Formats: sequence, structure tokens, C-alpha cells
Amino acid sequence: MTDRYDIAILGGGPGGYVAALHAGVRGAKVALIEKDRVGGVCVTVGCIPSKALLDSSHLYWMGTHSTVTGLHLSGDFDLAKAMARKDQVVKQLVGGIEQLLKARKVDLIKATGELVSATEIRTDGAEKRSVQANATIVATGSTVAIPPIKGLAEAKPLDNVGALDLRELPKRIVVIGGGVVGMELGAFYSEIGSEVTVLEMLPMPLAGSDPELVKLLVKALESHGRFKVIANAKVTAAERRKGGGVAVTAEVEGKSQTFEADEIVLGAGRVPELRGADKAGLAMGKRGVQVDDRMRTSVKGVYAIGDCTAASFENRAMLAHVASTQGEVAVDTILGEDARIDYGVVPSVVYTHPEIASVGLSEAQAKERYGEGNVKVARFPFRASGRALALGESDGMTKMLTTGEDHRIVGVHVMGPQASELIAEATLAIRLEATAYDIIATVHSHPTLAETLREAALVAVGKAIHTGSR
Ligand code: NAI
Repeated sequence: MTDRYDIAILGGGPGGYVAALHAGVRGAKVALIEKDRVGGVCVTVGCIPSKALLDSSHLYWMGTHSTVTGLHLSGDFDLAKAMARKDQVVKQLVGGIEQLLKARKVDLIKATGELVSATEIRTDGAEKRSVQANATIVATGSTVAIPPIKGLAEAKPLDNVGALDLRELPKRIVVIGGGVVGMELGAFYSEIGSEVTVLEMLPMPLAGSDPELVKLLVKALESHGRFKVIANAKVTAAERRKGGGVAVTAEVEGKSQTFEADEIVLGAGRVPELRGADKAGLAMGKRGVQVDDRMRTSVKGVYAIGDCTAASFENRAMLAHVASTQGEVAVDTILGEDARIDYGVVPSVVYTHPEIASVGLSEAQAKERYGEGNVKVARFPFRASGRALALGESDGMTKMLTTGEDHRIVGVHVMGPQASELIAEATLAIRLEATAYDIIATVHSHPTLAETLREAALVAVGKAIHTGSR
């Protein structure tokens, strides 16, 4: 069976399905080929389920441990119920995406596809199809990286899929890798009662985040009493013991140390998934398909987006919102528009409690670009925010980096409650090349956490109101 389309997309994650919806809105005839559920890792076994669980665990933690809110709840966390809620959230979103695809007249082909030329994707399964298109988009995502650790596979570590689907709470967990996955999953399990040890080979976890904020985050998480980060700890071996339990060996500050636990959670990175696109002759970067800022690959008519292109740009994290934006850019380019992606203003979030969110330049990058003396680092602590105190969550700060006499905002880094939401205003500010004065001139509702951004702007220009900082 042969079908002809304007655009055929291989992979239905946040890159591929958003590209399909965007193309559908623009009136293109689109085929989306996905072997599993639409939504990909993000919707089904990543961003969304982890947030559903983290929101449950945080409520539990606040109810059972907050010393300031007046709540004194007791009782165990109902892991099975939380997992069922998480499954329901995922099901609802997947169903919603399927309905949207139908409404945009996108043909969803549930099969494994293979890009065999610039204009053809062949599918396997019961009904073999040849999907012909004027342009094709590769959106095959990424898979869990398995680091070279002796015995790791046999020790059966839990990756994001397994760790987001446990029905019984492990007493002790060792997490390999203090990246975003490791810290988020570690935070979840420690909030609901597991003893969690995160082993990170670098001097600090969350290498992509502001070091000052990461230090504060680790302190806040460790103050819960069940969460520990051990840095400079390179895991070298893992073993599942016959009598039950696991042992993980790491070189800690040069000395070998063994950690006993009930489960291992693996958070040591992800690698681009290239199966399905590896025979089309696309030029590869260090890791993943090489693309330009319009998402064009080396083969005319073939575009690539999302995690499978992760290493085309320096230090690019694998982020769902980047994949989606790239999907829109690829479709617009195919439809003849002058579209490009701007990686300078991409927010990123670590969904622990408290959260870390960042956008724009890091402090080190800003100082390197503009000169140490030309960057103002303004900090506003959440303990001075009425809303944060009311919430009972006053750890952390909003940190704003400005440059020049007009205090143009070049970076914002937040550690605190709902930092993930606060970063949206900062992202727009940087996108519009706003100055601290623009934020100051913008009336913010009181009391809100968003006021911390305005307060940080006031600190930047030397007119602090609710803090003594200069
Ligand atoms: P990552 O690359 O962010 O972190 C992996 C960590 O493991 C690194 O800090 C590395 O030093 C450490 N590591 C590797 N091998 C080790 C060993 N043998 N011993 C000790 N430590 C070791 O990868 P992660 O957290 O798995 O995430 C994968 C991708 O997914 C990233 O690009 C991340 O940004 C993205 N992601 C984003 C999320 C978000 O935006 N909230 C959530 C989850 C993932």
C-alpha cells in the first residue's frame, strides 16, 4: 500500500506530534508514524508522569513534615494510588493528542517506520506501507544511556520507565547520576519515605544549573533527612545480591566505597535514538543527527528535530519544549517560511521541591561575554517574600543577571517554590531584550512569588525595597 503526503514524520513524541499538529493547522497532508503511544517519552514515561508523582509526593511531604503550616497528617503514602493517578493523567493526555491529530486530519500510523530515502518511510507490522512524502521529519527521540559500569545490566537498575512504575516503596535507593533525572526521581522517593543516596561523578550534581543555586538545593533536599548527594563519586560496579538487595561500588574522592540498597535508579544520561533513520545517509554529529538552525539535515528534503539531534548544538540539553519548537520550525521551513530557532532564550527546569529554573546566560557565561565588572548579579531571597512565607516554602532565591547602564537582563536563575512558573516572565523579558527597569515598571500582583523577579530587578538597579542587598 502506498500513500502520498506533503509531510511524513517519524516519531510521535513532543517533537513529532507537535510538528504534525502544526502542519495540520497549516493545511498540509500529514502522516505521523509512531510505534508506541503518541506523546513519546515525555508524555508517557518522562516529564508528565514524573510531575504527576512529584506533585503527589510534595503534598504528602508537606502534610506529614511541614513544621510551619499547621498540618500534622500521619499515614503512609499510597504509592499504588499515586501510580494510578499518574497513569490516568498520561491516558488523558495521550487521548487528547490523538483527538487533536484526528481533528487536524493527520494520519496516525501505528507501526515501526524506517526512512529509506528522502521521500519515503516504510513501515512494518501487519500492514506494510510505503509512506511517500515531499518532505520527511525524523523525530525518533532518545533512549537511556547505559554507562560502562561492571555488572550494571545484570543488577537490573530502574530507568525512568521502571522508576516511574514501582508498586512497592524501596526502603533504600542508590541513584547513579545526579543529573535532572536522578535528582527528580531521588526527590520523589525521598519525599515518600525511601532513603536516597545520589552518586554523582562530577564535583556537583546538576552540572547545567547555577552552582550557587544547586548548593542551596542540595542543602534543602538533604535537610529532609532522607536524601544525600555524594559528589566526586564515580560508580564503577553494581551487583544484585542473591539474597535480595543491591550493592553499588563507586570511587569516592579516589577511594572505593560500596553502597547497599534495595534498588538502583539509573540517571546517567540519554543517547539519541537513531534506529529507523540510520540507513538514510544523514550526516551525524558527535551524538545524533546533524542539523542547521532550520532543522535541515545533510540530505535535501529530510529534517530532524528533538533528542535525536541533541548534539548538533553545543551543550544542548534534551528538552521537550526544544523538540516542539524545532518541530514548528521544521514545518515552517518546509512550507517555505523564514523560520529559525533561537537557542539563546530556552528555559530549563529541575522539578525537585524546591525547583530550579533558568533562562539566558549563566553567571560565568555572562561575565565571560561582558566582562566581570559589567555584570550585576542581583539576588532576592524567598525568605523575604510574603507569598513564599505564606506557602511555608521560603528556601532559595531569584537571581537576576544584568549588564550595561540600562541593566539589560541577560540571565535569570531561580531556586524556590514554583520556579518553573516564574521563569516564564523572565524568558519573555530576555526575549524582548527587557531591562531591569522594564520589570520594575511592570506592576506585579501582591502577594505573589513573581514579585521576587521585580524585587531582584530593584536590587539590580540599587533600589532594593524588601531586602537589604545591594
Ligand atoms: P544528564 O546528562 O543530565 O545527567 C547525568 C549525570 O550522570 C551527569 O551528572 C553525569 O556526570 C552522571 N554520571 C554519568 N555516569 C556516571 C557514573 N558512572 N557514576 C556517577 N555519575 C555518573 O542525564 P539525565 O539526568 O539522565 O537526563 C537525560 C536528559 O534528559 C538530559 O538532557 C536532561 O536535561 C533531560 N531531562 C530533562 C528534564 C527536565 O527538563 N526537567 C527531566 C529529565 C531529563
